Amino acid sequence: MSHTHEAGWAHAAGALRGPSWLRQPTDVDALVPQLWSATASKDEAGVLSVGGVPLPALAAEHGTPAYVLDEADFRARAGAFRDAFAGYGVYYAGKAFLCTAVARWIDEEGLNLDVCSGGELAVAERAGFPMERVGFHGNNKSTAELATALRVGVGRIIVDSFDEIERLAALTAETGTSAQVLIRVTAGVEAHTHEYIATAHEDQKFGLSISSGAALEAARRVLAAPGIELRGLHSHIGSQIFASAGFEVAARRVLRLHAQIATELGVTLPEMDLGGGFGIAYTTQDDPSTPATLASELTAIVDGECAALGIERPHLSIEPGRAIVGPSMCTVYEVGTVKPVALDGGAVRTYVSVDGGMSDNVRTALYDADYSCTLAGRRSDAEPVLSRVVGKHCEAGDIVVKDEFLPGDVAGGDLLAVPATGAYCRSLASNYNHALRPPVVAVRDGVARTLLRRETVEDLLSTDVGDL
Ligand SMILES: Cc1ncc(COP(=O)(O)O)c(C=O)c1O
Repeated sequence: MSHTHEAGWAHAAGALRGPSWLRQPTDVDALVPQLWSATASKDEAGVLSVGGVPLPALAAEHGTPAYVLDEADFRARAGAFRDAFAGYGVYYAGKAFLCTAVARWIDEEGLNLDVCSGGELAVAERAGFPMERVGFHGNNKSTAELATALRVGVGRIIVDSFDEIERLAALTAETGTSAQVLIRVTAGVEAHTHEYIATAHEDQKFGLSISSGAALEAARRVLAAPGIELRGLHSHIGSQIFASAGFEVAARRVLRLHAQIATELGVTLPEMDLGGGFGIAYTTQDDPSTPATLASELTAIVDGECAALGIERPHLSIEPGRAIVGPSMCTVYEVGTVKPVALDGGAVRTYVSVDGGMSDNVRTALYDADYSCTLAGRRSDAEPVLSRVVGKHCEAGDIVVKDEFLPGDVAGGDLLAVPATGAYCRSLASNYNHALRPPVVAVRDGVARTLLRRETVEDLLSTDVGDL
């Protein structure tokens, strides 16, 4: 295909290149290994298999769209965090993705579980997850949720406000129970995708500010409440973070507060949680650290600061979600329509519509997230064209993959697979346009099994009780 423009060929070609980081691949059918789960591979015919299961066969049996979860890869990533952070508490952040099977895998791999709602707690309970290894988060836990947490005996509650401390104190007194708590503090470090900005501005709903004195006051109040035992401080600076510098600033501030609590309130807290947020690769642009590197960096940061303050290192914990489940899952879609759209400068962008979209992956629309994709059912020798993979919803922003080179002969009926959709895709999925949320199918050693089934029209209609 050739395009002419009065500004010259490079003008149109520039628009065709997509974002500056996106390179036209030499082999458009090849997988970029760091974006895929460990067992993903393509055969000579271009058929993509995960966990020994060819995706065309999986799609034929389970339909599309479908989330495909590579069990061996998930367990390996969980195990890598467990081993690299030996001596830490490692809490899998269930908000990234949770179902009863995954809760069991987390238990079997020896990790703890972080939940942040009564619903996630119910999944953990249904899975038989040991409650003493559950941490309960949330900036607005209801009294009912706190009562459930006390009744089932969750190991720790991460308190996030003065109101919550009051509610928890009242509940423990009322029910004759006790709670171990961490205080979620705001360290004044705002972390964004590829950068961090150390700032005194703490304009957000989570945590109690260190700089304003609210966090110290919270410690004072928890220590004064008879049914609540203060175990430590908790700091989570954000998500999809690559630079350890953000953690360093936060750890320094949190450890200073930890030391201040010891000197001013006379209590040496035994624990500290550094949160999650470790970045993964969504595109060739992302270069995540291994758990081993993260562990040595975080430990060195904390040890250095403890030495400077002349204090003992508290028992540390972390809460990775995305870095465990994110790369373990991909989504397989079927292509419906293909539409070349003329752009300024004579360029053309090929819109490839798939049978899902923002209802199964809202991250692109919500966070301007980048993804990649590949043809999953066949090889193609066609020239790669700059494509945009879009969904079927009634929003122009219903984009799954903003920019990717796909073979120019992609057509209705082709299967496309998007890697790294394990975190915050199914868990943020919606029924927008009354879409049926797709199944999560686990694959391992050539066997596919449904963990979450596809929703049905009956599921949708079951909540519509009408006015009859
Ligand atoms: C308190 C807390 N811990 C852990 C996480 C997990 O973050 P990630 O999935 O990026 O590792 C989050 C994510 O929002 C969080 O808010």
